[in-house]
Amino acid sequence: MDGLDSLRATWLERIGNAGDEAALEEIRVAAIGKKGEISLKMRELGKMTPEERQAAGPALNALKDEVNSALAAKKQALADAALDARLQAEWLDVTLPARHRRVGTIHPVSQVTEEVTAIFADMGFSVAEGPQIETDWYNFDALNIPGHHPARAEMDTFYTHRAEGDDRPPHVLRTHTSPVQIRHMEAHGAPCRVIAPGRVYRADYDQTHTPMFHQVEGLAIDRDLSMANLKWVLEEFFTAYFGTKVKTRFRASHFPFTEPSAEVDIQCSFEGGTVKVGEGDGWLEVLGSGMVHPKVLQAAGVDPAEWQGFAFGMGIDRIAMLKYGIPDLRAFFDSDLRWLRHYGFSALQVPAVHSGV
Ligand code: DAH
Repeated sequence: MDGLDSLRATWLERIGNAGDEAALEEIRVAAIGKKGEISLKMRELGKMTPEERQAAGPALNALKDEVNSALAAKKQALADAALDARLQAEWLDVTLPARHRRVGTIHPVSQVTEEVTAIFADMGFSVAEGPQIETDWYNFDALNIPGHHPARAEMDTFYTHRAEGDDRPPHVLRTHTSPVQIRHMEAHGAPCRVIAPGRVYRADYDQTHTPMFHQVEGLAIDRDLSMANLKWVLEEFFTAYFGTKVKTRFRASHFPFTEPSAEVDIQCSFEGGTVKVGEGDGWLEVLGSGMVHPKVLQAAGVDPAEWQGFAFGMGIDRIAMLKYGIPDLRAFFDSDLRWLRHYGFSALQVPAVHSGV
């Protein structure tokens, strides 16, 4: 068959010159597509004599194969070139310093909660939890605070709304962590040793009060616990927490859920407008405590003839302010990033007993 050489030369040259994949595709169609020049040539084989066909057939097939592989090679070359161009354009300098990212901090309340938990855990206390929306039974009655008791009025309680005509007593935002005592004893009985840190709510707002704040409750029930055990546990706690020997002072007080009851002060000095814990001859009130009232044990299903123990409730925000020299309680809950960066803790400062953080 005539002209195959020039056919080959033409198509191979056009393939070689194709600028991109679209152009290459056009060339493929024009050469070996259904109506491509080479395909038409192959159709002519039918009109040939067998001798002619024997010579022209293999030659045409070879040409078609050659064009095909030239197309494939060019396609690959174009793709490689495109990738090269992209790599040139999108280079990255891996030696550049990383972009600075602000790291968040742990809020002092979270940090102190962890510290308190670590110290009490070391004394065998585990952590108990309860709901922040409580029934008035758990928050008051079971703790020996009946409806007419002045303590109820003093708590500045937030009540939830009841639908019109629903006479059930409204739920409350718990005013203290003490209801967790009841829930824990109900569920697990005696003996027990738990702390219950968490949020509590009272309708109060001034320099030293916020409507939401944090308490940690303590409860230890066994057969022969006494105020002496309470005092030891608290002194041990304060000494570990403040990292210095801290004396405590117990003042007789009254809480409906304990008998006897005591308010506990820690030793401190007030010099130059700063409070220093563990020195001097001043005292600072930090918690309420006492021997759990028999009626409270009873309400929680624990037999007061067999079991007794102590409880305490302490303000977490308060002891955080004391340890870390934070002057204003309200700033705790302002979510001011500058404050959080200043007083917050690095995630790597993991509290542990006697870790000094
Ligand atoms: N629940 C009391 C309050 O919020 C604090 C308290 C006092 C808790 C004496 C106790 C306790 O467990 O024994 O003011």
